[in-house]
Amino acid sequence: MISHKNDGVLNELVAGLEAWSTLAQWTPVRIFTRFLPLKNHERVSPILRSGDATLPITTVVTEAGIRYGLDFGTGYSHGLFLDQRANRAKLHALRPKRLLNTFAYTCSFSVVAGLTGAETLSVDLSRKSLDRGKQNLALNGIATAGHRFINDDALELLPRLGHRGEHFDAIVLDPPTFSRGNNGRLWQVEQHFEDLMLAALEIAAPKCAILLSTNCSKIDPASLERQARACAKIKRRTTEYTRMAGAVDFPQGHGASTTWMMVR
Ligand SMILES: C[S@@+](CC[C@H](N)C(=O)[O-])C[C@H]1O[C@@H](n2cnc3c(N)ncnc32)[C@H](O)[C@@H]1O
Repeated sequence: MISHKNDGVLNELVAGLEAWSTLAQWTPVRIFTRFLPLKNHERVSPILRSGDATLPITTVVTEAGIRYGLDFGTGYSHGLFLDQRANRAKLHALRPKRLLNTFAYTCSFSVVAGLTGAETLSVDLSRKSLDRGKQNLALNGIATAGHRFINDDALELLPRLGHRGEHFDAIVLDPPTFSRGNNGRLWQVEQHFEDLMLAALEIAAPKCAILLSTNCSKIDPASLERQARACAKIKRRTTEYTRMAGAVDFPQGHGASTTWMMVR
C-alpha cells in the first residue's frame, strides 16, 4: 500500500519500490495506492496499481507468527499499523494480566496480550473497527471470554472505569491527531493528551506499563515524556520511561512517536 499526498510523492515512492524490489529480487503480488486527503470526508478507497484484480480485497498477514486481517478496500487504513510493531513485541514480552487498549482500532494490541493469557478491554469509537478486532482474536484462536469491546469515547470512558474500581497493568494510549468524539466533541492530541494520561494514571495498577504514542508530527518522544512526567507528578506516581528505537524500515521522522511510561 503506497500512501501519498500528491502525485510527485507517489511517483517517487513507486520508483523507490521498483528499485528496491529489483535489488531484493522480490515482486509484490499486488500494489495499491491511497491518496491521503487533508480532510477525512475526502478519503477515497485505495486503487489497485498492479497485480490481479480478481483476488479478494481482504487478506491475512502474519507478524511474529500472529495473524491479522487486512482489507485493502478501506479508505482509512488497511488494518495493521506497521510502526507499532516494536510496541506489540514489547507488550508481548511484558505479559500483562489486564490490558486496557484505548483507540484500539482493529485491536492488534489486544490480540498480542490475549495470546499470553491477558484479559483485555478494547475501546474505540468505531464499532466496525472493534468487529474487525474480534475477527483478529478469532483468527488467532483466542476465545472471546475475558475480552471486552466497548464502543465509546475513550476520554469519557476512562473516568467511569476509575469510578468502578477497575485497574490495569498495561494501558495503550495511541490516539489520533484529531477526531470528533461523542456528541461531536473535538479531540485534539496536542490539547488533550495530558487529560488522557491523567485519567490513565488513575486506573494504573502498581507496576503498570503505559504506552504513549502519537502520529502528530509536533509531538516528539521527548515532549511526550515531559507531558507524562508532569502528569505523574500531579497524580503522585513514580514513573520511569523507556523509549523505543525507530524501526529500520521507517525513515527518521516517520512513524509514530512513542514512549513507555512504567509506573511504580
Ligand atoms: C491511530 S488509530 C489507533 C491504532 C491502534 N492503536 C493500533 O495500533 O492498531 C486511532 C483509532 O482511534 C479511534 N478513535 C478516534 N477518536 C476516538 C475517541 N475519542 N475515543 C475512542 N476511540 C477513538 C478511531 O476510530 C481509530 O480506530
